[in-house]
Amino acid sequence: MKPRRSILSVPGHVEKMHHKASRYQADVIMLDLEDSVPLDEKEHAREVVIRSLLAMNWQGKTVTARINGLDTRFGYRDLLEVAEEAGRMLDTIVIPKVDHCGDIHFVDRMLDGIEMRKGFSNRIGIEAIIESAEGMENVSEIAGASDRLKALVFGVADYSASIGARLVSISGHGEKEEELYPGHRWNFALSRMVMAAKAHNLMAIDAPYGNFRDPDGLHRFSVMACSLGCDGKWAIHPDQIDIINTVFSPSLKDIERARRVLDAFEKAKAEGRGAASVEGRMIDQATVRLARQLWERASYLKMV
Ligand code: GLV
Ligand code: MG
Repeated sequence: MKPRRSILSVPGHVEKMHHKASRYQADVIMLDLEDSVPLDEKEHAREVVIRSLLAMNWQGKTVTARINGLDTRFGYRDLLEVAEEAGRMLDTIVIPKVDHCGDIHFVDRMLDGIEMRKGFSNRIGIEAIIESAEGMENVSEIAGASDRLKALVFGVADYSASIGARLVSISGHGEKEEELYPGHRWNFALSRMVMAAKAHNLMAIDAPYGNFRDPDGLHRFSVMACSLGCDGKWAIHPDQIDIINTVFSPSLKDIERARRVLDAFEKAKAEGRGAASVEGRMIDQATVRLARQLWERASYLKMV
């Protein structure tokens, strides 16, 4: 699967931002119809998104669209119109506030019909945002609900609201969290979602960091998400892309260590030895698996 280190969320109704977005180094551009679009712009935003999807040169980027929740009056029309008119340009439809697997079944079936009618050669994927207590409770069933699913996304702001967690910043996206809680307040929820995603071979994506003028905070939260198994993180401002790409790419040191592990393992195998060691530590199968994964990611990113 193509990398999804950085996902730049762009408001659907602001056409000039779509043009700019295609030139940034984000792995994914997500055209948003949900929370970054004011209520009175919802219908207009849908038209703008369809126009941009069809008319713009996306420079080979992965492009997705976030629809409104299926519990709103806009969600089903977003799905129908965006997928019918511009589905051949879309990697995935991103569904917010997925509470149970029925939401995914509904979208999956709709896409079946749309693809049959339109004769698209691509198969439109689905990303599910897990951002409620109910969604988190049902996350395993959601992750296994369709083979269209590519990723689960943790929507921390709506999740905080859903569970009634105390708010510490305006956006609810990660700032000043340490004033409330020592360590990583979302460790359990994020890990729970990562576990369900990985059990179903999906990517796990973290929510954006709210304060785009705080690169250190963004870096800290990106490292935490990466260390919990996330594959990428949303960005809400272009200045966040480089930091996210760097954190979610293997470092040169990691690549070198992986190479030494794999070399030592191959050498031991060729010599008929059961055990190998690097830097004075025994290498077991789990270490080899981790090294292979890292190597594959590095080769996909053309780093090796
Ligand atoms: C994203 O949608 C969030 O709620 O954090
Ligand atoms: Mg949300």
